[in-house]
Amino acid sequence: MQLTALCTVLATLRVLPNRSQFFQYESVSFRCEGNSSEWKVKRNTSRNTNEECPHDSGRQNLYHCVIGDLYSFDSGVYWCESAAGRCSDSVSIAVSAGSVILESPLLPVMEGEPVTLICRNQTSALSADFYKDGRLTRSSSSGNITIHRVSKSDEGLYKCIISDGEQSPESWLAVRAERQESPAPPPVLVVLPVCGVCLALGSLMLLGLWRNRKDADTASTYSTVRT
Ligand SMILES: *[C@@H]1O[C@H](CO)[C@@H](O)[C@H](O)[C@H]1NC(C)=O
Ligand SMILES: *[C@@H]1O[C@H](CO)[C@@H](O)[C@H](O)[C@H]1NC(C)=O
Ligand SMILES: *[C@@H]1O[C@H](CO)[C@@H](O)[C@H](O)[C@H]1NC(C)=O
Ligand SMILES: *[C@@H]1O[C@H](CO)[C@@H](O)[C@H](O)[C@H]1NC(C)=O
Ligand SMILES: *[C@@H]1O[C@H](CO)[C@@H](O)[C@H](O)[C@H]1NC(C)=O
Repeated sequence: MQLTALCTVLATLRVLPNRSQFFQYESVSFRCEGNSSEWKVKRNTSRNTNEECPHDSGRQNLYHCVIGDLYSFDSGVYWCESAAGRCSDSVSIAVSAGSVILESPLLPVMEGEPVTLICRNQTSALSADFYKDGRLTRSSSSGNITIHRVSKSDEGLYKCIISDGEQSPESWLAVRAERQESPAPPPVLVVLPVCGVCLALGSLMLLGLWRNRKDADTASTYSTVRT
């Protein structure tokens, strides 16, 4: 996910309700939070790329895009854009034409953090099998599974299937590495020469002090002698 370098202020895309999957006819609002008033919410769907997110009347002041009735063709990737370009992470939204959705994080999750996936209909969590990249990964009678410490290998496309065979759309779980390692040399390579220089300077200073001290001592001895 490379953001354009032209963005001087990065935005955060807030989605309300805060989830990755929706039922048909539900409504959803998108808001860009950042220092500019010039944000637009853009989207790529199966029908259009780089389309401005439509918004229904009302709530324009707070929300940059409000969709009152979601349909499966609203499924796609959404992001914030200013004149400078794309200035937020993009989020993926899936609209189910059926009665089952998978609740999963919208934004990438940090490595090591817990993640809970919930399989549910409009009213309750449902006993389900959870699939990752098309393969059964776990089953849960309470309708939710938790990965306690998520790792890069947990990244993938998740969905759930309930006992009568109905399934949710798939959503991508993204995992972000704990910290971006800089391509700088490993610390030891930097620390060693620096230490070497410090030690050398330190010894020189100590030597200097010792000399001064010695001179001073001799001087005072001489003066004592003189008085
Ligand atoms: C955001 O806007 C506020 C108020 O206009 C300003 O004080 C602040 O410096 C701005 N921050 C950035 C990162 O542009
Ligand atoms: C949207 O689609 C266009 C054309 O396929 C692609 O170049 C662009 O990267 C997509 N944007 C996002 C945020 O996925
Ligand atoms: C949405 O949920 C994620 C975790 O599930 C959380 O980190 C994020 O702060 C939430 N955003 C809002 C606007 O509530
Ligand atoms: C959701 O599932 C529960 C448990 O199976 C069921 O009782 C309820 O009627 C379902 N709700 C809807 C809206 O389908
Ligand atoms: C997952 O299911 C367990 C067992 O029913 C329940 O205690 C827990 O609150 C559920 N977690 C979520 C996030 O729904």
